[in-house]
Amino acid sequence: MYQALYRKWRSRTFEDVVGQEPITTTLKNEIRQGRPAHAYLLMGSRGIGKTTCARLIAKAVNCLDPQDGSPCGECEICRGIDSGSVVDVVEIDAASNNGVDSIRDLREEANFLPSLTKYRVYIIDEAHMLSIGAVNALLKILEEPPEHVIFILATTEVQKIPATIQSRCQRFDFRRIPSETIAARLLYVAGEEGFPLEPEAAQLIGRLADGGMRDALSLLDLCRAHSPEVTVQTVSQAAGLVAQDYLFDIADGVAKGELALVMDQIAAVGGQAVEYDRLCSQLAGHFRNLLMIHSSKKPEELIVCLPETLERYRAQAKDLSPSRLIRAVRVLQEAQSAMTRTSSRRTELELAAIRLCDPRLDQSPEALLERVEGLEAKLNTLLAQGLPAPAASVPEAEPSPPPRRTSPRPSPAKAPPPAPAESPSQEAVPFPQWEDVLERLGKLNPAARGALLGSTAYTANGRVLIASDNSVFREMMKTNEYTRSSLKKAIMEVTGVRYGVGPYSGPAPASRQEPPPAPVDAILQKAKEAGVPVDIR
Ligand SMILES: Nc1ncnc2c1ncn2[C@@H]1O[C@H](COP(=O)(O)OP(=O)(O)O)[C@@H](O)[C@H]1O
Ligand SMILES: [Mg+2]
Ligand SMILES: [Zn+2]
Repeated sequence: MYQALYRKWRSRTFEDVVGQEPITTTLKNEIRQGRPAHAYLLMGSRGIGKTTCARLIAKAVNCLDPQDGSPCGECEICRGIDSGSVVDVVEIDAASNNGVDSIRDLREEANFLPSLTKYRVYIIDEAHMLSIGAVNALLKILEEPPEHVIFILATTEVQKIPATIQSRCQRFDFRRIPSETIAARLLYVAGEEGFPLEPEAAQLIGRLADGGMRDALSLLDLCRAHSPEVTVQTVSQAAGLVAQDYLFDIADGVAKGELALVMDQIAAVGGQAVEYDRLCSQLAGHFRNLLMIHSSKKPEELIVCLPETLERYRAQAKDLSPSRLIRAVRVLQEAQSAMTRTSSRRTELELAAIRLCDPRLDQSPEALLERVEGLEAKLNTLLAQGLPAPAASVPEAEPSPPPRRTSPRPSPAKAPPPAPAESPSQEAVPFPQWEDVLERLGKLNPAARGALLGSTAYTANGRVLIASDNSVFREMMKTNEYTRSSLKKAIMEVTGVRYGVGPYSGPAPASRQEPPPAPVDAILQKAKEAGVPVDIR
């Protein structure tokens, strides 16, 4: 039967627990001197050795042939504890219901001598989950602990353990394990298991695991399932990442409009390290991530990557506007679906690259937007250089129409004031469940939720009106049916009511400042004024 690496490689001695030397040294000393504490509190994040150490203590204090403070692992007691047949070592999961009962029973039980071993050991995992009743029962015992009993509490949330309990325990603060230490351990495990693991790959896993050895071993397991030899590439793929350098390079070429550079990169990686269709979807993912940088206040929640990669995304996002990125994602998605119908995937990708580098060759609304943006930038430069602006005689065009308008339009006056996208009717009221809706939306459509972080909403006339100054969200609402439908679905699931959705552009909530004009909307507006046919529903 296949056994997960992290189970198979649970440390068998204190020396074998890596990265926690101050703790393991102290424990070994206490045990060697035959003076273990009555109660231990092992705290720290998950997968760094708390349960492992708890079991080692239980074995070491009872082992018939201890080796320098560590259990021998061979005697009948050690083996009995490993197999769970020794009744004097009890593991209680405080997170489960019977955890509470066990503590109650335990008060009576604790007074009896252990049947087989020297110490009766209670390991209480997730100790912060104990009920008040259980905590009180435990406290009673800890006030006068019987000689032959040892408690080991393990928790990831020490601040939830009452001070009265904490003060009666010897406390050990487990550290996140340094990435190099993790890498070394992985190389050791791979060596013992007999499969090839590149040192660089081990290091990458070490960094991705963020101090957790269990996560590192699980990721290694996943990599091994992907390929017989674990390389940086395997790790990246297994972690849902890609070896990102070339993606950054290609995106760089797109940002600069340097087609030759992009083609070179595609030629270099496409078809060798990566299949063209995979490259295409990776690129789409890359541009999507850049878009998240623009649209979300907390992109780190939406992008799975190393912290330094996030910084690279931030830097690159500065060179590419949201409309440019939206277009890039579209173009690549189209190329991907075209690839399923053709044998020449490389050509599809190259065509996409051309469209990405030069919006003039592209007739999509996004490309037009981008061109307008470009023109606008040029115009601004010219104006800044002191060219006289043309007499402003362009009439105020009607803004993009709302999905449905129920009240009759007043006939425009001679010089109409700039009309809001949609005036909310008088009775628009704050929508209290908006946070819940956003949370639900996170499951259905994380990108939309990301774009909506920090937004608020109102209801009026059976519709939920969303107040967001996020241009990417507005763009998504206009052009992407999935955004609308997932929003409606989330609202329906939270409220049980089938609401319509629309933008709110009434007075800003009192506390907030006037939002800056959404760039995409402004561009759309300009495009219409300039007579550029932008077809956005
Ligand atoms: N410090 C460590 N040294 C070696 N292996 C470790 C260490 N910490 C965790 N592991 C590995 O992760 C697995 C789970 O660790 P565990 O002790 O259960 O973590 P937790 O801190 O969540 O209780 C172990 O079986 C072992 O394979
Ligand atoms: Mg544990
Ligand atoms: Zn033993």
